[in-house]
Amino acid sequence: MMLPEHEIVISEEQIRRRIPQLAKLIAADIGDSNPLIVVILKGAFIFASDLVRHFDFPYEIDFISTSSYGNATKSSGIVKILKDLDEPIKNRTLLFIEDIVDTGLTLHYLTEILKIRRPKRIEIATFLSKPSRRKFHPEVKYVGFEIDDRFVVGYGLDYQQQYRGLPYVIAIDEIATKK
Ligand code: IMP
Repeated sequence: MMLPEHEIVISEEQIRRRIPQLAKLIAADIGDSNPLIVVILKGAFIFASDLVRHFDFPYEIDFISTSSYGNATKSSGIVKILKDLDEPIKNRTLLFIEDIVDTGLTLHYLTEILKIRRPKRIEIATFLSKPSRRKFHPEVKYVGFEIDDRFVVGYGLDYQQQYRGLPYVIAIDEIATKK
């Protein structure tokens, strides 16, 4: 797919400056708990890999994958786990890493379902947030950037699986189907 005409919403420079700030806040908060970093695939992989390279404390990483937009689960409001965690989480501090919190459904569901396994604590870090779209309200403590209700791609975020590798974030409302 060709790169569309685009407006840069978050630049490389903004990202470069923000990541170490977030890492520092996270370190001060949960750095002494050997947290399990739970990366929500696929979109969060770039944010997570940049973030953890600024972590100066012990941690472990695991990956979880949920059903995403573009199938029936969106309208039904049910999120399905496609790939579960490999590690047990009982009594552990979890840090979820997400690419974008939109309606909040994914993280609301994931945190509720994983609470059954009795982790000690759950925190959430997201690269982007669209507060105006929220329908569910998971507690998101770490937010890279708040954005307006635009459809964005890059830095892990996709449109039809494309554009994840862009080093900045662009808005492509004009080609993406409005949700
Ligand atoms: P939520 O469950 O409504 O909060 O949606 C979260 C998921 O929707 C994200 O992990 C993304 O996969 C997808 N999403 C929401 N907004 C965008 C966007 O602007 N670009 C790309 N993906 C998006």
